[in-house]
Amino acid sequence: MKKHQPINPNFPFIWHGGDYCPEQWQYEPKIIDEDMRLMELANVNTVTLNMFAWSTIEPEEGKYDFSYLDDIFERMEKRGGLVILGTPSGARPAWLAKKYPEVLRTNEVGQKNLFGNRHNHCFTSPKYRELVAKINGELAKRYKNSPALALWHLSNEYNGECHCDLCKEAFRNWLKERYNNDLDALNFAWWNNFWGHKYTSWDQIDPPSPLGEMRNWTHLLNWKRFVTHQTTDFMKIEIKAIKEHTPNIPVTTNFMGSFYGLNYKELAKELDVVSNDDYPNWHHYFGPNYIGNMASFTANLMRSYKNKPYMIMENAPSATNWTAVNKLKRPNMHRLSAIQQLAHGAESILYFQWRAGRAGSEMYHGAVVDHTGTDETRVFKEVASLGKDLERLKDIIGTTTKAEVGLFFDWENMWSATLTKGFNNTDDKNFLKTLYKHHMPFWKRGIGVDIVGYDTDLSKYKVIIAPMMHMVNDAFIDKIEKYVKDGGKFVTTYYSGMVNEESMTYLGGFPATKLMDVFGTWAEEIDSLYPQDENYVEYKGNNYRIYDMCAVIHEKNGGKGIATYKNDFYANTPAVIKNKYGNGEAYYVGFRDDGSFVDVLYSEILHDANIKSVVDFKLVDGTSVNARYDEKNTYVFVQNFNDKKVKFNTKDTYIDVLDNSIVTGDFELEAFDAKVFKKEI
Ligand code: GLA
Ligand code: ZN
Repeated sequence: MKKHQPINPNFPFIWHGGDYCPEQWQYEPKIIDEDMRLMELANVNTVTLNMFAWSTIEPEEGKYDFSYLDDIFERMEKRGGLVILGTPSGARPAWLAKKYPEVLRTNEVGQKNLFGNRHNHCFTSPKYRELVAKINGELAKRYKNSPALALWHLSNEYNGECHCDLCKEAFRNWLKERYNNDLDALNFAWWNNFWGHKYTSWDQIDPPSPLGEMRNWTHLLNWKRFVTHQTTDFMKIEIKAIKEHTPNIPVTTNFMGSFYGLNYKELAKELDVVSNDDYPNWHHYFGPNYIGNMASFTANLMRSYKNKPYMIMENAPSATNWTAVNKLKRPNMHRLSAIQQLAHGAESILYFQWRAGRAGSEMYHGAVVDHTGTDETRVFKEVASLGKDLERLKDIIGTTTKAEVGLFFDWENMWSATLTKGFNNTDDKNFLKTLYKHHMPFWKRGIGVDIVGYDTDLSKYKVIIAPMMHMVNDAFIDKIEKYVKDGGKFVTTYYSGMVNEESMTYLGGFPATKLMDVFGTWAEEIDSLYPQDENYVEYKGNNYRIYDMCAVIHEKNGGKGIATYKNDFYANTPAVIKNKYGNGEAYYVGFRDDGSFVDVLYSEILHDANIKSVVDFKLVDGTSVNARYDEKNTYVFVQNFNDKKVKFNTKDTYIDVLDNSIVTGDFELEAFDAKVFKKEI
């Protein structure tokens, strides 16, 4: 398959390094020399600078001091390394916050925040937009000719919302546009005669607040959309200011996986490359499958925005400091998680953070260089050794991935499914956990998965899995119908096809309109279960326990029940319905299980669709494989998330890219080991 371009063609290797804060060490300038020496030893080629250094480079309004940045740029130029340059909008200087209080955020009960912390700005404030554009422009002008400038890093983990008067006004204007200036249309969509909440003028509308309205799901949903819109709009101002001087330097901003607060699909449209901050809770007692599979889901999501390679902008070389129990990454774990990301399409492994600060809120967060300050630590050695491996893996730059399975995940749907209360509300309806469960059967079989949304061309996939597809608009209903009619296999579940894009229920039975025919199902009711409630579904002679929710469903339009509820008033009624529709097949899974039922069902569907693992060898529990391709080769990434050795046997013959040995027949992976094999296509 044809290769993608590298993130920046001037730097066609895997980027290794990360967040570097020399501004914190101006009191001990020798440290900077030492950092450069240690970076060589750690096989680090990349530094990410400046996200939190605004007060250093502009100590007074309009007075600039770029000396620290000049110095690092010069050093990186000499080394042939690269700089990812941060725009500093994530945290403003104290002088700025005091002089222009409008830039600070107002919280949801109307209190103006004080200076401090970060991510504490109003995304509407014209003054803040002006000042951010100004400093971005200054940075771009100063470094536009540096051969080390490789990428822009916009702000840092955009997030949060502001409830100031400027933002309220912007929200109202955004709503006017959405509803074509028709307040009645808004009142209808929001069902505002409920509790007598009808608006008679646009300025009566406020953002959701615990002091006011928090229980109108459509209001909440549209506020979320607005926050994404306004954040993207702010980001576009940042991009414009830098692209004016550096049109050819790509831009990114660091995402936080499937972060609930922003629809990253909208932000991604404005970026040249997607990057993620990746902090899975390795060694959590949930076990190797749970975290390994979850990290794989998020990695698939990152690649799927643009269907091309993405970046790991941050990950912890050892432990973080912000979870309840910050466990060290066990020996080899860091390398394994890095190779897992490369396996899914990542082309950088960058850290938060290069060096731990002496004080400040992140002083105990893991770093490549800890407070000992030497290259003798376990973590440093592991990072350095990974750096060597990354050099050996440079041929994977630009290689592609393949997927015949699409898993439906869209922020709009997540919001509508979780903001709306009803049925079993436990833990946000266990929405993401359910998606992970549906991802697991593919992960553990080494089957490539893309994450798809409303706007994806479904025809590329043989199988689409859409758990809890609560929100569907007419266009998406048509798309599903056509997809199945044309021969696709589509699986959905309980709590699907219930509302339109305003989160208004469809009338006339679920799943909505044509979907009842496509899925051969009428889903009449949804029951909710307490953890103590015991009920089962029988499928091919085996019983599967039901958890949390299940739908009472009926056969319709030729749909056939293939599994049956055991107990309660719906005993002996169908729990899963399969329908042949056109040339394809649609499945409606009525209940949530612990993953063992969907594992069986998906293995059968994979078999019917003739979708096979990328390898001929059988994977054992806690292991996974992914593949990347170029015109000539398949690269196979074998990953062992177990804390013990595992054995495989292959009839294929591979070259181990990391040590050039030939692999065939029996081979082993040590605890937390990963191998990268190559085979000619
Ligand atoms: C986030 C931020 C970093 C740092 C890390 C700590 O990802 O972007 O600045 O705070 O968390 O894990
Ligand atoms: Zn505001």
